[in-house]
Amino acid sequence: CTMSKNLRIGRSYQKKLAGDHRIIRFRCALNNTIGDVLKQRPGWVESKEGEDWDFYWCDIGWLRENFDHIYMEEHVRICHFRNHFELTRKNLMVKNLKRLKKQLERESKSESAKCDFFPMTYELPSEYHIFVEEFKKNPGTVWIMKPIAKSQGKGIFLFRRLKDIIDWKKEGYRANNEERKEETKDVETYIVQRYLGNPYLIGGKKFDLRIYVLVTSYVPLKAWLYRDGFARFSNARFTLDSIDDSYVHLTNVAVQKTAPDYDPEKGCKWSLQQLRHYLTAKHGYETVANVYQQMNEIFIKSLQSVQKIIINDKHCFELYGYDILLDSNLKLWLLEVNASPSLTASNQEDYDLKVGLLEDTLNIIDMEGSLTGNEKRVGNFDLMWNDGPVYAEDGSTDALGGPSYATNTYLGCHNDRKRQLNQLFRSLQNKKTAAG
Ligand SMILES: Nc1ncnc2c1ncn2[C@@H]1O[C@H](COP(=O)(O)OP(=O)(O)O)[C@@H](O)[C@H]1O
Ligand SMILES: [Mg+2]
Repeated sequence: CTMSKNLRIGRSYQKKLAGDHRIIRFRCALNNTIGDVLKQRPGWVESKEGEDWDFYWCDIGWLRENFDHIYMEEHVRICHFRNHFELTRKNLMVKNLKRLKKQLERESKSESAKCDFFPMTYELPSEYHIFVEEFKKNPGTVWIMKPIAKSQGKGIFLFRRLKDIIDWKKEGYRANNEERKEETKDVETYIVQRYLGNPYLIGGKKFDLRIYVLVTSYVPLKAWLYRDGFARFSNARFTLDSIDDSYVHLTNVAVQKTAPDYDPEKGCKWSLQQLRHYLTAKHGYETVANVYQQMNEIFIKSLQSVQKIIINDKHCFELYGYDILLDSNLKLWLLEVNASPSLTASNQEDYDLKVGLLEDTLNIIDMEGSLTGNEKRVGNFDLMWNDGPVYAEDGSTDALGGPSYATNTYLGCHNDRKRQLNQLFRSLQNKKTAAG
């Protein structure tokens, strides 16, 4: 047996001298906005292959291969938790949410009802028989099949008849085994989920939401919510008459951008601000505040469902991309949580959003040691949970004039990111100067 010696990461990290800037050595596995942001960050230099580093925007493949064989110095940071998949693999997310719901049921009905934000879901093939029973109880329902570990809409299809997945089972097995040849004869795991057939439509089109949550610690749980995000629209008008048409049913940008009439400049996105204004004009302030309150419940309950399972590690943080669907009753549904939300930009506006998102992530990770650690807002991130709910400061208002709800969350609200950062860093600088 070979016990590979642990590789030490982050050695010879320069001690910070008064007024001196410490050099932060980074690596980056992705060649998109995150690469740009890291390269442009003052004081940060890229490490070459084989060189030591202090910060790594790694991919989950690297994590799987290396995490158990390295020893990281105190200051080192990487962008995933060891077993992130407990939340970000579709089957495990549902399993963990079902367990939390059961636990809460024993305590109180109203608390467990707060977990009713994921559509009925089963894992295939392991739960095939329970699914068939459920299927028979709900005639005419549309179901959606999704491979548990793929993304960008790959491998997804909708069906109404059991026969469709029996055919798929045969086909699937065969295709699967041919594709993987000798490697493995395992059947690919899917989830089957109730298809939400009554999405909220704007201009006749379906959309879902991409929202960003940053977790900097699981024990205690510390989570930040980004104000900006977007609604992703499908290109074709919604109908249940053509359940085979991906352009109608899958809102992934990766799917929609292949549509024949897709226009990258127009894109198929609305900012969360645009959406909030639209919904408020249509339904009024109170109703929309309630929708956004449901949102908080989704973030917190989903994170709590894995809080005791995720291997907490002071070196790790995670920037999650939540996929959430609004239905025509203004109820929100969690579809999935992504560990590697797309960081490639579809146009200039999208690029600006992602650069801001990543800069603010790095501001919070704070390799530079600029923050006090007590901040409730950094750029567009608001601290939403810090071992308990974080409440808004008195008198805080959002773009729509009224005070927001009690919690310190401002999704889709007015954002003045650059000004806030300037103020924050200026006041930190003043404190330092005053302290001599
Ligand atoms: N249960 C569902 N009801 C309605 N639409 C769904 C459902 N599940 C997925 N979708 C649609 O399919 C898209 C892709 O599903 P998702 O679970 O996010 O998988 P992927 O990892 O491929 O992005 C979603 O963005 C949404 O538009
Ligand atoms: Mg998705």
